[in-house]
Amino acid sequence: MKTILTGDRPTGRLHLGHYFGSLENRVKMQYDYDTYILIADVQALTDNFNNPKKVRDNVREVALDYLAAGIDPKQSHIYIQSLIPETAELTVYFSNLVSVSRLFRNPTTKFEVAQKKELFGNDGESITYGFLGYPVSQAADIACVNANIVPVGEDQLPHLEQAREIVRKFNKIYGDTFNEPEAVLSKNPRIKGLDGNEKMSKSLNNCIYLSDDEETITKKVMDAKTDPNKLRKDDPANPDICMVYYYHQLIKNPNIEDVCSECKKGERGCVFCKKELARNIIEFLKPIQERRKYYEDRPDEVDRILKEGTEATKKKAEEVMKRVRENMKLDYFE
Ligand code: TRP
Repeated sequence: MKTILTGDRPTGRLHLGHYFGSLENRVKMQYDYDTYILIADVQALTDNFNNPKKVRDNVREVALDYLAAGIDPKQSHIYIQSLIPETAELTVYFSNLVSVSRLFRNPTTKFEVAQKKELFGNDGESITYGFLGYPVSQAADIACVNANIVPVGEDQLPHLEQAREIVRKFNKIYGDTFNEPEAVLSKNPRIKGLDGNEKMSKSLNNCIYLSDDEETITKKVMDAKTDPNKLRKDDPANPDICMVYYYHQLIKNPNIEDVCSECKKGERGCVFCKKELARNIIEFLKPIQERRKYYEDRPDEVDRILKEGTEATKKKAEEVMKRVRENMKLDYFE
């Protein structure tokens, strides 16, 4: 059975962008692969080192969202990154295999560097060694369980390419040790926001969270961006540039054909259409929110799931690291 590794930074609750961009896919894949899902608290600290409470609190929120979304703890090992110190050790070994200029060339990093400079000043003081190196640590996350497959969103592809380069170099120098991990993009690697933004993202403040209540969802949907040329409810419009239509498709409205043709013919007002979408999203999230409530009421069970997931990962990482130390001639006194 092939091994999957993937995960998220615990910096907030998960939203529909996460669900349709990756969670849905993970839930499907977990039955066919040995699946490891990491809650990347160490990586979250690269940007939040001065806010440990935020990271700590969100480890639980993300775990609840995973379980709510249908990650089955009998199928998947959900684990906490900082509890696998082997990852830190492997990060150090890997850091010899990547140049600083290569790290700066990583397109996702490059974008984040520009963002930081804009926010905190051009002198580069906000670019820490830990931040620059997080793709190396991410390569170690993947290699520590010797994963074959890493399902990710679009922005993670450069990190995967970098992980592959590091692993190839390691294998060449120290002997064949790791699988070359393969990125798998989900069907919808990037989910647009209801506001028409290219991405549903916490920093853009345009998210519907998996745990949002009915009133919040309705309000957010009523604010969604529609075809700006449609002024009156019986004007014909273009669903292809309407975020409401886009979300009708995502949540698989069974009447999608009617939604489309009525909209084009001017037989469907936006308010009506938004109300229908809000109802469908609420309905869609119902089982997810019921599962979330089940686990919210049972914190000990969530702890047990995280502990067991972490223990299973640790066992696997110890096996892998034993081989790493042998191959690197670091197996003293064995
Ligand atoms: N970088 C990912 C994110 O921002 C989280 C992550 C950490 C990850 N390590 C990983 C993803 C390893 C896939 C594989 O959400």
